[in-house]
Amino acid sequence: PTLIVTTREGEERQLTGEAGLSVMEVIRDGGIDELLALCGGCCSCATCHVHVDPAFVGLLPPMGPDEDDLLDSTADRDATSRLSCQVPFGPALDGMRVRIAAED
Ligand code: FES
Repeated sequence: PTLIVTTREGEERQLTGEAGLSVMEVIRDGGIDELLALCGGCCSCATCHVHVDPAFVGLLPPMGPDEDDLLDSTADRDATSRLSCQVPFGPALDGMRVRIAAED
């Protein structure tokens, strides 16, 4: 499945992600290092914040309280915000676009 990532500079990158990885891992494995993902995916840093294509937001698993709290600590949160390490990637999300959120 394909994930389309927009970087902070507005560059679009098309990545192929293996099912079973998180969206964060697909972005990191795709060589986009501006997504810091400092905690490595344990939902404790918020540096993997992305904005998800509104057409796909409803397809994602609901956000847990930890993710919600962490997103509240970011300046760039909106209705499309997710922590990409908490979103499993897979065929159902083929073609999804995500935009890397502004740095806090
Ligand atoms: Fe730290 Fe996602 S990588 S919260």
